[in-house]
Amino acid sequence: MTSAVTIPRHGGTGGRTAVAARARQVVKAYGSGETRVVALDHVDVDIARGRFTAIMGPSGSGKSTLMHCLAGLDTVTSGQIYLDETEITGLKDKKLTQLRRDRIGFIFQAFNLLPTLNALENITLPMDIAGRKPDKAWLQQVVETVGLADRLKHRPTQLSGGQQQRVAVARALAARPEIIFGDEPTGNLDSRAAPRSWASCAAPWTNSARPSSWSPTTRSPPPTPTASCTSPTAASSTRCTSRRPSRSWTG
Ligand SMILES: Nc1ncnc2c1ncn2[C@@H]1O[C@H](COP(=O)(O)OP(=O)(O)OP(=O)(O)O)[C@@H](O)[C@H]1O
Ligand SMILES: [Mg+2]
Repeated sequence: MTSAVTIPRHGGTGGRTAVAARARQVVKAYGSGETRVVALDHVDVDIARGRFTAIMGPSGSGKSTLMHCLAGLDTVTSGQIYLDETEITGLKDKKLTQLRRDRIGFIFQAFNLLPTLNALENITLPMDIAGRKPDKAWLQQVVETVGLADRLKHRPTQLSGGQQQRVAVARALAARPEIIFGDEPTGNLDSRAAPRSWASCAAPWTNSARPSSWSPTTRSPPPTPTASCTSPTAASSTRCTSRRPSRSWTG
């Protein structure tokens, strides 16, 4: 797949770069020989700060792979990924784990909830691991916005697919990361629940205004944070196209 958009590196408020995340000449290949799959083939992409960016493309075109690489969840075969000014492709494991925990929210396509924890415990898990106390007012706002207030004590197996997805959305938003990646974050939600859970919650990430629950005692957000998602329906987008499909793409 290949995709490229260009956004000025500087601009907007406070002198921060206008680009929240960048990929430069990123290649991601899985396997070797006959079964080798080139999921990302020299991808250049800039994700603008303070905007929704949708990554679109057919199944298997590399959308999830791109997001996993941008979020530092997967390694690249070659090329560079930057989060703001930090090149994450050069970071050692410990620093990368810390950066992911502190600066990135990720909504997984397959939710990745822990079955032994209830909904609330799943939502606060990243902060619990980091030894950080959740901001209660913000947490409540997130939980209410995604419509999970009456399901917090339920475990994932006791929740519908859409409810599990909303737990995954709440988990990504709860720590107020600098950038949120949503891998088809509304795929299991109906047309009423989808805007409620994803767009409403992520709105503070695309407004320069702070969320209503903001208080001086809580961790400050970047001035113009960012949300990025894969979506089969979004109108404005970065498009994934397969340039050199390998055997296993075409069956
Ligand atoms: N761990 C892996 N090992 C081998 N091939 C993989 C692996 N993960 C992904 N792929 C391949 O890489 C390609 C891109 O996969 P990816 O999951 O990024 O696609 P996608 O655009 O997110 O698809 P979908 O819309 O179905 O979620 C696919 O051909 C897939 O089979
Ligand atoms: Mg995918």
